Amino acid sequence: MQIAIDGPASSGKSTVAKIVATKLGFVYVDTGAMYRASTVLAQKLGLDFGDEAGILAALKEADIQFKPDQAGQKVFLNGEDITLAIRTPEITNNVSQVSALAGVRTEMVARQRQIADQGQVVMDGRDIGTTVLPAAKVKIFMVASAQERAKRRYAENTAKGIMTPLATLQAEIELRDQKDSTRAISPLKKADDAIEIDTTQLTIDEVVDTILAIVKKNM
Ligand code: C5P
Repeated sequence: MQIAIDGPASSGKSTVAKIVATKLGFVYVDTGAMYRASTVLAQKLGLDFGDEAGILAALKEADIQFKPDQAGQKVFLNGEDITLAIRTPEITNNVSQVSALAGVRTEMVARQRQIADQGQVVMDGRDIGTTVLPAAKVKIFMVASAQERAKRRYAENTAKGIMTPLATLQAEIELRDQKDSTRAISPLKKADDAIEIDTTQLTIDEVVDTILAIVKKNM
């Protein structure tokens, strides 16, 4: 069984997807982390974030691995732990440029499908229901107001000691959504057969329970 969870930035997809995967005993695949790893690769090589040929050549040779960890999942690029590096503001604010490159998407989508072919998955991203796993049995599209998403990101940041103002976070989130929804290839879009869940007023547990009930109905 494949479960696709898509939605805009900071809508709570990864938090919920991780819990759903654990409860079902499925593999969790964070596709955003793969595009973030591609952006870290470009940064490390000093490549322009729009340099499609350069990034793709490096990416084809790159080993991107996820390893379970107490805090969730660690991400490795060519053996190096980049779990923290993929979340820096520079990467967050440039990942949409890298993820819009056609060659990068083709390479990542092929890797994502390869992982999904190996077993039961909960995969989160922007184009999972529309492009990566169009036959997924359950498709969820998670949304929340930009204000609420910025508040959640602010609370997460504060806990980590990052002090970006709330208004800046909201502006960054809105800009990333705008870039992700208007790009030419596989833009962020609800699949016709996806179920939309507005999480603005819901707790994490409520969203998890809603998804588990949908999964049960489709088993
Ligand atoms: O989910 P997360 O916010 O970590 O994703 C980071 C970025 O990766 C998104 O803003 C988007 O540009 C890109 N992405 C994508 N397709 C996916 C997942 C993420 O283009 N399936």
